[in-house]
Amino acid sequence: MGGCFSKPKPVEVKVELSLLEKEKEVDGLSPNGKASPFADCRPNGALAHSSDEDSMLLPLNHNSRDFVEASVCHVKDLENGQMREVDLGCGRALLIKQHGEFSAMAHKCPHYGAPLVKGVLSKGHVRCPWHGACFSTVTGDIEDFPGLDSLPTFQVRVEKDKVIIRANKQALQSQKRSKPMSRCSAVINSNTGFSHVLIIGSGPAGLVCAETLRQEGFTDRIVMCTMDIHPPYDRPKLSKSLESTAEQLRLRSMDFLQDHDIELLKEKEVVAVDVKTRSVTFEDGLRMEYRKLFIASGSKPKPMNYKGKDVRNVFHLRTPEDANSIARLANNKNAVIVGTSFVGMEVAAALTDKAHSVSVIGIEPVPFKKALGEKVGKAIMKLFETNRVKFYMLNEVSEMIGQHGQVFRK
Ligand SMILES: Cc1cc2nc3c(=O)[nH]c(=O)nc-3n(C[C@H](O)[C@H](O)[C@H](O)COP(=O)(O)OP(=O)(O)OC[C@H]3O[C@@H](n4cnc5c(N)ncnc54)[C@H](O)[C@@H]3O)c2cc1C
Ligand code: FES
Repeated sequence: MGGCFSKPKPVEVKVELSLLEKEKEVDGLSPNGKASPFADCRPNGALAHSSDEDSMLLPLNHNSRDFVEASVCHVKDLENGQMREVDLGCGRALLIKQHGEFSAMAHKCPHYGAPLVKGVLSKGHVRCPWHGACFSTVTGDIEDFPGLDSLPTFQVRVEKDKVIIRANKQALQSQKRSKPMSRCSAVINSNTGFSHVLIIGSGPAGLVCAETLRQEGFTDRIVMCTMDIHPPYDRPKLSKSLESTAEQLRLRSMDFLQDHDIELLKEKEVVAVDVKTRSVTFEDGLRMEYRKLFIASGSKPKPMNYKGKDVRNVFHLRTPEDANSIARLANNKNAVIVGTSFVGMEVAAALTDKAHSVSVIGIEPVPFKKALGEKVGKAIMKLFETNRVKFYMLNEVSEMIGQHGQVFRK
């Protein structure tokens, strides 16, 4: 997150619910062909003043029962640059005031549900307080990852100095919105080894590439291949929640991919790319030609140079299976973690209440030295030590010696 953002002052939430009855009343009047009270609203829900007379009219082609409308505060309750979570009776929304104009959108981050009101509002963007996803306050579109989905926006107007939000009930409940996507219209013989776009890797980079192509209206074939046995999942969560299954970590289901004609080839390792013939070869000998190739194969943990590589129960954390095995095997045993940056320290934190003991080995004098500096590293080290974590710093592993061929044995 950049340091240019200014944090809005916290404000108290005062809510008045109203207007649903009015909406019911005018339901029968709606097909009059007149302009909606929201015709003056900008598509982002930015403020437009309207008269009482206007508010008796309903938007065309919208079933008013699908909408909720509530007066949520006085115009002066919010300063410019402030956000407030408000209740509309059947769900909450985030009300935003910038340059004298109000806008409203979902209040929860679609990534893991962080309260956006605790995030940072700056220059038409809200940044999530937990992992930094960024959303436009104009469209609700996601503009920076992590996360894949956008936020629904709601209409806002002011009547007699009251701020009124009108929201689609379903959008208010779901709190998220996928951008519309095209489908494949090319005639495909899936037995032929040709794809217009071939993506190596189904991590966030590969998946976002495939979804963005469909969101931009790409209608040719997209094939995405992975060495994984699962559909795309949230790899960063592995070190924070060792027991989560691939299903719990799933980013998109196979049904979602099928619905958008994104073909996923699982357990399919690419062993060669020939850019002259525009083709790749898979480990099983199959070949696939492509028009465009996107290589999103991620990175691998740095290999360690030590004796005793045949010792079992040593894991590089990359997959849900690795994480689950670590959690299972470390239970009431002595766990040793090599590496003192984010992944290593997150695993140490996750194991403190599971393992009999947790020891951490690092080549630096303190954890996080490169990322956060020595002072912060020292403070974090102390915190871990008070939670029974033992550090072996300025050290490297030269040999793994197992008992009965395994480590993690007491
Ligand atoms: C335990 C852990 C915790 C993390 N925590 C965080 C965090 O808190 N915050 C953060 O920002 N980042 C975190 N990261 C890093 C983050 O996961 C990566 O930056 C991100 O996954 C990179 O995405 P990617 O799509 O480039 O590659 P990856 O997610 O690594 O995906 C690579 C894909 O390429 C495929 N592939 C590779 N080679 C081949 C081949 N030859 N043939 C076919 N397919 C191939 C793989 O099977 C996989 O599908 C963490 C990583 C780990 C391992
Ligand atoms: S919860 Fe918002 S980015 Fe993760």
